[in-house]
Amino acid sequence: MNMKPFLPCLTLGLVFLGACGLEKPPATLKFPEEKKEAAAPAAAPVAEKAPADPKLAAGKAVYDTNCAACHEASMMGAPKPGDKAAWSARIPQGVETMAKKSIAGFQGKVGAMPPKGGNASLTDEAINNAVAFMVDKSK
Ligand code: HEC
Repeated sequence: MNMKPFLPCLTLGLVFLGACGLEKPPATLKFPEEKKEAAAPAAAPVAEKAPADPKLAAGKAVYDTNCAACHEASMMGAPKPGDKAAWSARIPQGVETMAKKSIAGFQGKVGAMPPKGGNASLTDEAINNAVAFMVDKSK
């Protein structure tokens, strides 16, 4: 059998699927991806399991919806809960001081933390809980 006509297709096919007439992936290949997106519509990344302490569990809920967008991604130096190295220098200030700063907003060495993470409707207690959750995970 003469394989010559197929060689360019095989070679190019790896780079340009279109060269072999595969512009669109078959529906069967695309389907599971779409299903996965439908099953998990939450855009914000979230920390995994809920803590047993109700205060920390409430804090996690606040964190997941209001703080995770920056903090899970370590955006602009936002310390990620659980990243002990990122928190070790901050924790000695005390949870109360860190909560006050988070309520008022502050400019840090690396980035700026907006007041209440940008959600003015959050209560001070919600922020206190969220900070307690973040610190508890990072000790
Ligand atoms: C827009 C991004 C953003 C959001 C949203 C955000 N933060 Fe932050 N946060 C930062 C950044 C950036 C820092 C680090 C600033 C620095 O020290 O350079 C930070 C630092 C902190 C710190 C450490 C404070 C300290 O004294 O070191 C705490 C606590 C904190 N954030 C709590 C929260 C809480 C609670 C929320 C949600 C209610 C939240 N953040 C939402 C960006 C964000």
